[in-house]
Amino acid sequence: MTSLSANALVESFTKAGQGQVFRFADTLGEDGLSSLLAAAAEIDLDELASLCESLLPQKSVTQGGPSINLDGLQPAPYIPLPEEGGDAALWDKARKAGEDALRAGRVAAFVVAGGQGTRLGYEGPKGCYPATPVRQASLFQVFAEKIRAASARYGKSIPWLIMTSSLNDAATRKFFEDNSFFGLPREDVIFFMQGRMPAVDARGKILLDAPDSIAMSPNGHGGSLRAVVTSGAAQKLRTRGVDMISYWQVDNPLVQIIDPAFIGFHVLNASEMSSKMIPKAYPLEKVGHFCLLDGKNTVVEYSDLPNVMQEQLDEQGQIRFRAGSVAIHIFDLAFVERLGGTGSGRLPFHLAHKKIAYVDEAGTLVKPERPNGFKFEMFVFDALPFAERPVIIEGKREDEFSPIKNAEGVDSPASCRRDQIRQWVRWAKAAGIVLPVNEDGITSFDWEVSPLFADSEAAFVQKWNSLEPKPQIAEGTLLV
Ligand code: UD1
Repeated sequence: MTSLSANALVESFTKAGQGQVFRFADTLGEDGLSSLLAAAAEIDLDELASLCESLLPQKSVTQGGPSINLDGLQPAPYIPLPEEGGDAALWDKARKAGEDALRAGRVAAFVVAGGQGTRLGYEGPKGCYPATPVRQASLFQVFAEKIRAASARYGKSIPWLIMTSSLNDAATRKFFEDNSFFGLPREDVIFFMQGRMPAVDARGKILLDAPDSIAMSPNGHGGSLRAVVTSGAAQKLRTRGVDMISYWQVDNPLVQIIDPAFIGFHVLNASEMSSKMIPKAYPLEKVGHFCLLDGKNTVVEYSDLPNVMQEQLDEQGQIRFRAGSVAIHIFDLAFVERLGGTGSGRLPFHLAHKKIAYVDEAGTLVKPERPNGFKFEMFVFDALPFAERPVIIEGKREDEFSPIKNAEGVDSPASCRRDQIRQWVRWAKAAGIVLPVNEDGITSFDWEVSPLFADSEAAFVQKWNSLEPKPQIAEGTLLV
């Protein structure tokens, strides 16, 4: 940065009432100053000012966003699975349409992996977490193998977008290098970093976490739509003939990354954004809820939906707001370009009240005991109300969703290990294999099926039937 543009930058911060960002500038060496200036240059001061004006008045709440008026809120309609009363012929038609799209190379995969595994207590990028029972294969490896299996099935390479953040970008790339990209062609893996937002205090003043460093953090998974466009990834997909993106979160190894029926429903409805719902396991399950508000599909987080509404039953005695969002979507690329580019739609920011370490006026680092500041995040599901012809289809929890979020208990490595084995036991049973299982439907021993061996029940049965001699399934068996 030239000193002229550096001066202009400092001046713009001073004018915006954020001059404190450069409070220690005179004491910094060249490196410190240039990294401070580079971080400052990432900040859109106008955007920040308008966010502080609109959101900071809500600072009494721990989480806040544009306040939601829930009057007239209805459950969003969804397409049920055939076994839940859906139209089997329609599902078949969708599956065929999806397979055609895959064979035409129209689909890319996209995992958002910019968050930190704080709740899990894991230090590295969460995608490096060892998730499988026998190999301890990482989440990234499981996804890579699912993508390789789908590429082989449809005879087309499937580009894989991986969104990292400044917190884990270098470590994520190194992990792929160290593991030879898990057998994927390098050119098919497209890394890019999401944007960042500064943390502010209750008066909207940007906080420093060191004299030469602004307290910046990732701008939420909703930042993915901007980042796909600004990183140039969208353009790369266009040149490859891709026009759909299959999106999921890094914490869920059960995800069906490439689901032809889901893709087909998206295509048949010319949808801009399609989503998978899973019926909630219990009324207060901590997931987002697919709802209809003012005629638009929308996701209302569990923290924004009063418990009485989460617990309501419908006339059939089912949970009324049962459509849980498991953060699995398909985006039309043009829709992403519209929302993530300079186009009309923009995702709103939500406010999170957090403990943020900061340097005070004397330059001393303060580690607060209570939340003292605010972070701004976008949520990807806020794109839903902007989408034309959105579609929501039902998914089966046992085949789609078992996230690793917490160190113990629900959504933990232990519950996910059980869900993986339970799925393979079901596949084995379908192939006529008799395994000793307990009342939870799992074997007492660890074994594992790589997605390269089979990525679905049908694929497992076919593969198993073709094997001669058949292997023994016992402690430590790895089918790959
Ligand atoms: C999320 C959803 C919830 C959904 C649940 C399903 C929110 C607010 N809630 O909850 O509706 O039911 O998952 O599992 O999202 N990430 C980034 N960059 C960021 C922040 C997050 O890439 O700046 C990624 C993470 O790496 C992860 C995903 O987004 O892959 C989810 O983030 P997380 O904060 O763990 O969401 P949850 O609270 O679990």
